[in-house]
Amino acid sequence: MNTLNNSTGFSPFQLHLGRSQLPTTKARAPIYVSTSFVFNHSADVFENRVASLEGGVAVIGTSSGQSAPFLAISTIASAEDNIVSTSYLYGGVSNSSSVTFKNYGIGVKFLQDDDPVAFEAAIDEKTKAIYVESIGNPKYNVAPISDLAQVAHEHGIPLIVGNTFGMGNYLSRPISLGADNVVHSTTKWIDGHGTTIAGVVIDSEFHDPVLNEAYGSSVFAGKSRVDLMRDLGPSLNPFGAFLLIQGSETLSLRAQRHSNNALALATVLSFGVQDAIGVAGQLIDNLHLASNLTNVGDAKTLSVHPATTTHQQLMIDE
Ligand SMILES: Cc1ncc(COP(=O)(O)O)c(C=O)c1O
Repeated sequence: MNTLNNSTGFSPFQLHLGRSQLPTTKARAPIYVSTSFVFNHSADVFENRVASLEGGVAVIGTSSGQSAPFLAISTIASAEDNIVSTSYLYGGVSNSSSVTFKNYGIGVKFLQDDDPVAFEAAIDEKTKAIYVESIGNPKYNVAPISDLAQVAHEHGIPLIVGNTFGMGNYLSRPISLGADNVVHSTTKWIDGHGTTIAGVVIDSEFHDPVLNEAYGSSVFAGKSRVDLMRDLGPSLNPFGAFLLIQGSETLSLRAQRHSNNALALATVLSFGVQDAIGVAGQLIDNLHLASNLTNVGDAKTLSVHPATTTHQQLMIDE
């Protein structure tokens, strides 16, 4: 696990780590237009870089941020199992993964907040994981990750953390706080320019002699890749990975600026006028600099109104 230090250590990681010497072309911007690759090709630069930034041992790039928690949870839960989560999530209780989980017979126990005591009480013998967001979208609640990790580990299950709003580990570092797996939408801060939809599943270190034998040093990521990714197919495309590598090179610069400005603006727009959807719409339509769209973490100023977009499927009391 690396120890990142924002004032001295973040930029070299985001620029150079994960990029091994490319033996044939020596290209600094590696992208190969090919659907298939000869085995034993050098490791993917993007996945290695995210592993370095997040302090994980393995990373799987996914076709969207939304498919990352789906892949992660499907790796450890089957029909009749459940996970314990909170309604303070992207999409809340209508989060599309949870709807799909129901189709597979996997239950999601949604709590109304992220209180570790409530999580502990909700865990039963069929619970396979706790899932929370480090910083919830759109409420910006900060999950007590260390305490939730302790609850999870006392019950022998992993804590999976959605770290999209953690700005690619610049703002919040769940693995260093005890999380076992991290997922996030790289569509946001890692891309940073609104050019590609993608996500990641990140695995922290895990030792089990039997499972390590079957899946290599990273059990969770190994099973996720060779079983679930194979069957479900939400893989990251090479051009998307290239765009994300470009974006990651300026991550800390954008994260610093966004920490100062953008979240404050987004909060006002999301909640300051949430009871008056029409008023919010008028306000957004009259902004000159900010574009009205659903994204966050873009270098260009934007406004997003969750009540009519990302969270429109929620009932008023959810
Ligand atoms: C916290 C969070 N998780 C997941 C997603 C879904 O990501 P994607 O659009 O890459 O599928 C979003 C999108 O807004 C998000 O904000």
